[in-house]
Amino acid sequence: MESTAPVYTLAEGVPYASATTAQHFGGNNIKGLMLLQDTQLIETLAHFSRERIPERVVHAAAVGAWGEFEVTHDISEFTDAKFLNGIGKKSKVLLRVSTVGPERGGADTIRDVRGWGMKIFTEEGNQDWVFNSIPVFFVRDPIKFPSLNRSHKRHPATNQGDSTMFWDFHNNSPEGIHALMHLFGERGTPKSVRHLHAFSGHTYKITKEDGTFHYVKVHIRTNQGIQNFTNDEAVKMAGEAPGIHGADLWEAIEKGDFPSWTVSFQIMKPEQAESYRWNIFDMTKIWPHADFPLIPVGKLTLNRNPSNYFADIEQAAFSPSNMVPGWAPSADPMLQARMFAYNDAARYRLGVNYQQLPCNRAVSRVYCPFQRDGKMTFTDNYGGDPNYVGSDLKPIQYTGKVGAHAYAIGGHEEWVGRVVGFTSEVVDDDFEQARMFWNMIGKEEGQQDKFAYNVACHLGSAIPQVQAKALDMFSKVYPVVAEKIQSNINVLKSKKA
Ligand code: HEM
Repeated sequence: MESTAPVYTLAEGVPYASATTAQHFGGNNIKGLMLLQDTQLIETLAHFSRERIPERVVHAAAVGAWGEFEVTHDISEFTDAKFLNGIGKKSKVLLRVSTVGPERGGADTIRDVRGWGMKIFTEEGNQDWVFNSIPVFFVRDPIKFPSLNRSHKRHPATNQGDSTMFWDFHNNSPEGIHALMHLFGERGTPKSVRHLHAFSGHTYKITKEDGTFHYVKVHIRTNQGIQNFTNDEAVKMAGEAPGIHGADLWEAIEKGDFPSWTVSFQIMKPEQAESYRWNIFDMTKIWPHADFPLIPVGKLTLNRNPSNYFADIEQAAFSPSNMVPGWAPSADPMLQARMFAYNDAARYRLGVNYQQLPCNRAVSRVYCPFQRDGKMTFTDNYGGDPNYVGSDLKPIQYTGKVGAHAYAIGGHEEWVGRVVGFTSEVVDDDFEQARMFWNMIGKEEGQQDKFAYNVACHLGSAIPQVQAKALDMFSKVYPVVAEKIQSNINVLKSKKA
């Protein structure tokens, strides 16, 4: 019987008799000098040195899988995005769930926010949802984002994670107190990515072609139920099974135990935004469910493991700027900054033609002849079609009425205001939702104590001056929060002594 095994060749297709022999020069049984004409050896070594691409500056470590998004409820009165219209409609999805701080290979269970990069391949191009596992964020001024992340990573001199620098940053950006409360709650150390919720955090717009629009926040809630490690369990797992989240997801999908999530929207009318208690463009704030209940929209299911991690997950590029007609940005400054940053990062990390990679390529037809050439173009590059706009030589059809974003992008910018130099200031109201969070976890026996212990494990190793300022910040939530953290620090200190 003829073998179906692949025939080994070099990368240019030339067959070779062995993958391990090399050409040597030397007599007397001494084999050592090697030849520049040995293409197999040289190509093998040269390719190996170039195997790595730059890792993501944040969210470098991740797990991922393929799946589908299915519409379960009709929301056509709010948006004409086709992937959201028609109960039962399914779109292919690529999901990448990451930790934020660690480099590639970092332990899965460390206390961190989880990132949620989700590409929905729709008939109108790619819709990306680049979300987090907490509903609020640590800063609301995008210029602080690089500093926030450096403070969570390695000290520039010692190259170690450093709780002093972490708390020093947060002490001086207390608008992030609500996000800190989430990070140090039980959900900061999830058991697996199957047991996570995800949130848009930002306010987006959902729009109709007639120009009407609503503000929206997206919630993706796990149907497996929330499950978390305690702080100490998570620390232990980081040593014993650093890749536990990847293994867990892979095995579940391999067994056919497909994890799923319920996708819901909170929807607000533009008039409501004008008088709402919280600034809807401030991503340190949620909209309480009592004010804006969750409206179910669809179901996300993961059902296929990547066939190759590098090709499908490492090369994936998600961006909040990938939006289909019917979906639009709001005036949230963080979102505006992100709409630049991700494509910029992808061009650096993957090259200018990253949209052509199989994991990123739209399933709908793409015709964008005014972006062509560049490193690693591997389509026909639009052949001889005009490469300048406004040609009669090859007519092009356009869709939609409103230019820039095909359909309506909503409106309301006149309400948002005028151009000014701006940095936000922290006021007492910034602590209000942290108080709500504290009271909420107080309803479950032991949660407040666990929270205080979790903070103490981290804050306890910061220098005294920084510790004192962090405790001062927590005392503005309620004095008892700081007191509980302080007494946990004292206990940990005496144990160590
Ligand atoms: C001004 C604020 C922010 C900036 C400038 C920023 C920038 C970045 C950059 C440069 C990357 C790496 C992208 C790559 O190399 O492909 C990244 C990854 C990511 N960010 Fe942000 N980010 C910001 C805020 C946020 C927020 C608020 C969220 C969630 C609500 C978020 C979620 C994510 C996720 C999920 C990833 C990983 C995407 C993936 O899996 O490839 N980021 N961010």
